[in-house]
This record gives sequence, structure tokens and C-alpha cells, in this order.
Amino acid sequence: MDKVNANEEHVPELLQAHAHVWNHMFSFIRSMSLKCAIDLGIPEIIQNHGRPMTVTELVAVLPTLNPTKACHIHRLMRILVHSGFFAYRKLDNDAQQVGYVLTNASRLLLKNNPLSVTPFLKVVLDPIFLKSWQVLGIWFQNDDSTPFVTGNGKTMYGYCGHDPWVNNLFNEAMASDARLITSVLVDKCKGAFEGLESLVDVGGGTGTVAKAIADAFPHLDCTVLDLPHVVDGLQGSNNLKYVEGNMFEAVPTADAVILKWIFHNWNDEECVTILKRCKAAISEGGKVGGKVIIVDMVLMDEEKVNEENSKTFETQLFMDVQMMALLTGRERREEEWDKLFCAAGFSDYKISPILGLRSLIEVYP
Ligand SMILES: C[S@@+](CC[C@H](N)C(=O)[O-])C[C@H]1O[C@@H](n2cnc3c(N)ncnc32)[C@H](O)[C@@H]1O
Repeated sequence: MDKVNANEEHVPELLQAHAHVWNHMFSFIRSMSLKCAIDLGIPEIIQNHGRPMTVTELVAVLPTLNPTKACHIHRLMRILVHSGFFAYRKLDNDAQQVGYVLTNASRLLLKNNPLSVTPFLKVVLDPIFLKSWQVLGIWFQNDDSTPFVTGNGKTMYGYCGHDPWVNNLFNEAMASDARLITSVLVDKCKGAFEGLESLVDVGGGTGTVAKAIADAFPHLDCTVLDLPHVVDGLQGSNNLKYVEGNMFEAVPTADAVILKWIFHNWNDEECVTILKRCKAAISEGGKVGGKVIIVDMVLMDEEKVNEENSKTFETQLFMDVQMMALLTGRERREEEWDKLFCAAGFSDYKISPILGLRSLIEVYP
């Protein structure tokens, strides 16, 4: 406390602390500016332009821009250049002038990029989902199961079940993430699926992961298990089918089950129940060698955080508190995963940290 008093010798520390607070206080501007650029279609406009685009060119083609607001676009773009979503490049025909170009990060937000992260960004920053953050302090003092319930009066999956627009927004977000992860999964983790004849994707959403696996392994029978409002009306194919059900009650029998982004939604007790249902599903087939394949985060140890990996750790912590805000789940360290597997009666597991912020975990009965 002494250190932040405004006496002369401590002025630099005071100002540094003040700047730190301001930077954090305004952090929402990073994500909200990005959302605005996406809402206005700016990444696509710059991509279609095909060369560095000046601010004058940009405002001239922004389809829905009110002309009185044109003078503000460069301010929005300036902060997004600073955050690494756009960059300045000199014009070929006039080296005195610069135009905007995309960066790797904004290319990942293009709506026509098959690996686009935009649907996930839209759900994270949607007002219904953000409400959980507005009421976080209230939730800490009440009896509600999650801040989402405090903000919206229903659990997150309950809300998706009653509002088709939110259901679609959420399912699209999951599918976009699944496209990105499966592009790595079927390429780098082929071995995990070899020798299997049947696979159930538990909580498999609209089937993006299962479809990619079914296409990559035509002899593997794939089943997507999810809630009725998610799989209702979806058409399978030769080796892919959809089953509605509740993973807390039963999981269809198979050689293996895959669960992507499921366990971080649920508390330890709920996870052990799901794991037990999965163990029963892979044991009932009577085949040796069954397993549970998990795609989820393994939280880094705080002691191993250094300058190089501190942003990765921070992103993992963001996801952990996001789970606290929306659901009853959390992100887990390896010891915490180990405890869950033991409690559900599994004997061994293997973690492969090959999916960036997330890992592939194979769990054996
Ligand atoms: C975070 S999403 C992950 C979807 C998909 N695995 C992916 O990563 O793209 C969790 C999924 O679990 C489903 N789910 C929630 N509760 C469920 C339940 N009781 N039984 C089956 N599925 C459930 C949700 O509908 C949702 O599709």
C-alpha cells in the first residue's frame, strides 16, 4: 500500500500501477473492436480488395456505413492494427501512402475460411452470453448454479433448447471449432482411430468431428450422441448416424468413444458420471482395446509459466473462468484429470499435447 502513495520517490510506481489498472479496465475494447470489424465485414472487404486498402477506399465500400461516421473508421482500424489484426503496407503505386492488409489472425476470422473462428467469437461476445459476466459478483453471493442462470434464468443448455436462434449460434460456434481441431486430428492423430470398428462422439453437436472421422476412416461406424434440440432432423450417411439421448444416462455401445470439449463443461462429480457411462459403453462391446478419446485442455502448471508461454497460460485461465461463468465446469491440471479417471475406474491414460491450447487424451479401462 505504501508503495502507491504519491510521494515523490514513488511516483513512477504509482503511475505504472495506474497504467496497469487502465489497461485492464479497457481490455474489453480489444474484443469489442474486433467484433465490430467483423460485424461490418471489414476482413472480407480487405481480402476482396486484393491489395493494401486505404481508409478512403475502405469507407467508400463499407456497405452499411452512415456517411457521418466515416471519419471514425480509421480509429477503429488503428486499434486493430495495434492488436495485430490488420497491418499497414505501402501502396505499390504510391509509396507515400499506406493501406490495410490482413494478418494471419484476421485471415482466421474470414467467414469463408473453412477454419474460421468467427462463429466462436460471435457466441463468446453475444449479449446473452456476456450477461453472465455482468452478474458474476451477484452469483458469488447467491445460490444459483451458474452466472448464466443468474443472468438468463436458465442453464446454458436449457436456454439453447428453448431459443432456436441461440441454439444455432452455439452449434455453429462448436462446429467451427470442431472444423479447426479435426483438420489437425485426422492428420496428426490417425493412430488414435486405427483398428477401431465403431466410435461414438458423445455430445458431438451437429457432427462435424464425427463426419470428418467417418470420411477419413470409411470402415469405422460413427454415431453422434447429443440432446434432441441439437440432432433433431440431422441426416447421417453410410457410416454416420445421429442418436438423441442424455450422456448422463447412457452412451451407445462402441469400441471407443470420443468427447471433445465436454468435460470442461461439467464439475468433477458430473464428469465421473459421464466417464462411467463411457466405460460401460466401451466394455459392453466385449472387445479388448476399447478406449475413451478426449479433446480438452490440460491446464499448465503455474510454476512452469514463463515469459514465452505466459499468453498461452492466460488464455487457458480465460477459458477456465469462462466455464465458471457459463456452466458448472472448469479447466483441469493433469493431476485433476488423473483423479477423475481413477474415480471412474480407468487404469491408464496418455496425454498428447498436439492441439495447441488443448490436448488429445486417450484413457484406457
Ligand atoms: C461444448 S459443446 C461441444 C460440442 C462438440 N463436441 C464440439 O466440440 O464441437 C457440448 C455439447 O454437449 C451437448 N450436451 C450437453 N448436455 C448433454 C447431455 N446431457 N447429453 C448429451 N449431450 C449433451 C451439447 O448439446 C453440446 O453439443
